[in-house]
Amino acid sequence: MSTLASVAVCAASTRPHRIEAAAALAAHLALPLVAEDDHAHEVLLVLTDERLEARQTDSRAGAVAVEFTSGSFGYRRRPGSPREAVVRAVGFKGQPLEVFDMTAGLGRDAMVLALAGCRVTTCERSPIVHALLEDGLRRAASDDELAPILEHLTLIQRDAIEALHSAPRPDVVYLDPMFPERTGSAVPTKELRLLARIVGASEDAGALLDAAVASGAPRVVVKRPRLAPTLSTARAATPGMRLEGRSSRFDVYFPTGA
Ligand SMILES: C[S@@+](CC[C@H](N)C(=O)[O-])C[C@H]1O[C@@H](n2cnc3c(N)ncnc32)[C@H](O)[C@@H]1O
Repeated sequence: MSTLASVAVCAASTRPHRIEAAAALAAHLALPLVAEDDHAHEVLLVLTDERLEARQTDSRAGAVAVEFTSGSFGYRRRPGSPREAVVRAVGFKGQPLEVFDMTAGLGRDAMVLALAGCRVTTCERSPIVHALLEDGLRRAASDDELAPILEHLTLIQRDAIEALHSAPRPDVVYLDPMFPERTGSAVPTKELRLLARIVGASEDAGALLDAAVASGAPRVVVKRPRLAPTLSTARAATPGMRLEGRSSRFDVYFPTGA
């Protein structure tokens, strides 16, 4: 397992309620609360007046925050088109579809699916990544066009294997585990590098796939880097279908033979 970065929380605001919120976040995450110019930790979770962002103090990479209304994801540029490979991979054709996303990360795939019209439950194990995503969703909820979409997107902070076990059977289980030598994904490099420093590589990708198959969902979709080996376990040996995106591949398993 790779060494994880040390993380601390700080406020970049003079407003008392933001300073209090930063202290509450540090306590919630059981992380030290430090000054903004304290660079003793490799990653700083910074609560500004507008948002929660992660800064890498030992790198020139810019801050990472979850932005659904602007920036590279800006939903107006990525309208959840049915042509998106992830939308085709889950088999969405306009009918109601419940998708359980076991690996929320920064929520991009979950948002693309929700924008297309799926009902999505997305699960994140890391409390730090969850805090970043929750903050992005909170800000997105004040966008008039996104607010109705977010009614169909539920974020939970829990291990997905446990959460899926106690959830109603979804139509599709989706997983996008971290991949050690990932050569591309829907998540741009800066974000992916940060995620890797916070959560490390997925040691449990096979266990995630097994839990997805055991859930009884008729369709399981695994996102992989385009040239990566297939994820296979005793329960799920061979995908029934493959779809290639720009830099990613979607392996689709049909555990119940559907
Ligand atoms: C590659 S990222 C997912 C990126 C995401 N698809 C997106 O579009 O932003 C993988 C995420 O899955 C999370 N993860 C890994 N194993 C998990 C588990 N067992 N339960 C919940 N989350 C998990 C990691 O913490 C990490 O944030």
